[in-house]
Amino acid sequence: MPTVRELQSMAGTEPITMLTAYDAPTAEIVDEADVDMILVGDSVGNTSLGYETTLPVTVDDVAARVGAVSRATDEALVVADMPFLSFGVDEADSLENAGRMLKEEGAAAVKLECGPHTVELTETMAQLGIPVMAHLGLTPQHVNRYGGYPRQGTDQEAAERMLELAVAHEEAGAFSLVLEHVPSNLAAEITEALEIPTIGIGAGPDCDGQVLVVDDAVGLSDWSPSFSKQFGNVREEMSSAVEGYVEAVESGEFPAEEHSHEERDLDDLY
Ligand code: KIV
Ligand code: NA
Repeated sequence: MPTVRELQSMAGTEPITMLTAYDAPTAEIVDEADVDMILVGDSVGNTSLGYETTLPVTVDDVAARVGAVSRATDEALVVADMPFLSFGVDEADSLENAGRMLKEEGAAAVKLECGPHTVELTETMAQLGIPVMAHLGLTPQHVNRYGGYPRQGTDQEAAERMLELAVAHEEAGAFSLVLEHVPSNLAAEITEALEIPTIGIGAGPDCDGQVLVVDDAVGLSDWSPSFSKQFGNVREEMSSAVEGYVEAVESGEFPAEEHSHEERDLDDLY
């Protein structure tokens, strides 16, 4: 798998790809397509757990999926997203929660939704051997502060603050930075200012890499943001398979002879 060092050397030379995954079969598909990094996002709350926001997602929710994804991944670097309030409240808890993703679940790094409060924590984690992917711009765990999911860094003051925070996290030892839903020219400026790779989502073409939620990319979600793109239509494919199953059972077409076993002596079973 690419190490965090190799990813850093890719910055500016070849585009870095990242997709989310939340289960083993999806991780296998993503890994076999040579995606560089797999993010086990707290977006699992929206994609898989039926929540409206990422706020209810727990460390256990993410940890179980990090384990599944790590076991199914040979090449890609697996990044565990730290859920709302699992970091940044108490340092010891933050380190225990993040450490668990590496020690017990096989992640190679964690991602933190960042602000001024995560600079020191990023430094401590990096020093302890927990590589940190920083995340700035639209950080969905702040939905209640934003009152929605608006684009970030749209005025000069906010843009400058974001650039300063990006530099501060790089200096603290972050190995990369996700920029979500920010103007392309701001993302380009931050990418230019940093050595570490920037990974954009809704941040234009000038980041060092791109990330999408896999359900959006393959067309499994029933809704996806305008900055996302569907590269397939898995939802339609699954619907038609499920409808096909229902029809076949109802019509008696399934199971047919080839799906059935000869009658045998029950004693053979034991
Ligand atoms: O949880 C997630 O999927 C994310 C990406 C969109 C960056 O944080
Ligand atoms: Na996330």
